[in-house]
Amino acid sequence: MDVLTRIRDTQVRAEKDRREGKTIGVVPTMGALHEGHLSLVRAARSSCDIVTVTIFVNPKQFGAGEDFNSYPRVLDRDISVCENERVDVVFAPEAGEMYPEGFSTTVRVSGLTASWEGSARPTHFDGVTTVVTKLFAITKPHRAYFGQKDAQQVAVIKRMVRDLNFDLEIVVCPIVREPDGLAMSSRNVYLSPGERQEALALVRSLKKAEELVASGTTKSLDIVESMKQVLTDSEIRKRDYIAIVNPDTMEPVETLEPGVRVLVAVAARVGKTRLIDNTIVTLAE
Ligand code: PAJ
Repeated sequence: MDVLTRIRDTQVRAEKDRREGKTIGVVPTMGALHEGHLSLVRAARSSCDIVTVTIFVNPKQFGAGEDFNSYPRVLDRDISVCENERVDVVFAPEAGEMYPEGFSTTVRVSGLTASWEGSARPTHFDGVTTVVTKLFAITKPHRAYFGQKDAQQVAVIKRMVRDLNFDLEIVVCPIVREPDGLAMSSRNVYLSPGERQEALALVRSLKKAEELVASGTTKSLDIVESMKQVLTDSEIRKRDYIAIVNPDTMEPVETLEPGVRVLVAVAARVGKTRLIDNTIVTLAE
């Protein structure tokens, strides 16, 4: 496995792999790898010749007062985890390599970045789309793997790829959960044991939404009200949003239509930790 920190070395390696006719799968991450990340790595491993994992805690996607400084950084462990998963290339640059003096470009997807995560974190998606564009230019993938855990990020990246004609396929992998249902996240390490229990209310609220849709509820307002009840019953008062939206446009859906996929997403603060989770529901035809 090659562990590369230089952009040029990574591009040279990717060019060589492409010349040899190999397909390259890239898994962009911020490290502190867990089973959620590894599901993406395994999906890439099963369908690409070369698997590249990028590990970079991207300063541009953290707002002022967010957890950039305390974000878990365990590069040595991540590298051995990648080795075990038969990853071919780890690209783990320093911030100065990615954003040298004079860096002045921002890639922005407008519209679907304004709401939900975008209103809670106004500069976040610009940071994500800018870094992902760079990572694509550096690692030259045929396929790039993203988790449904970050549903709005998926919508934004798919739109960017379509709008800017990136010649690659976005593969979306399902949410990996702890045995009790909590969605895996690098941020779960911030939770105290009590908060860890409280956090399960997010999953319970999504289960409630799934049950309501399965029993034929069509009005989003009714679903939102029941979800709010689940969260307040569980002491979660710092709710950021409950979104019932079109998963491609992030536009609100007022009434569910049979056979049409709808994204139900929730964001809340548990203690000081901001958690997000979601599920896709479809009203029976
Ligand atoms: P990070 O939070 O490290 O996540 C990297 C990838 O792993 C993302 O595509 C995310 O959706 C996926 N992932 C995280 N937890 C998951 C889970 N429980 N199940 C399935 N997939 C999961 O997302 C980012 O980093 C950054 O924004 C990045 C795209 C790397 C740009 O900096």
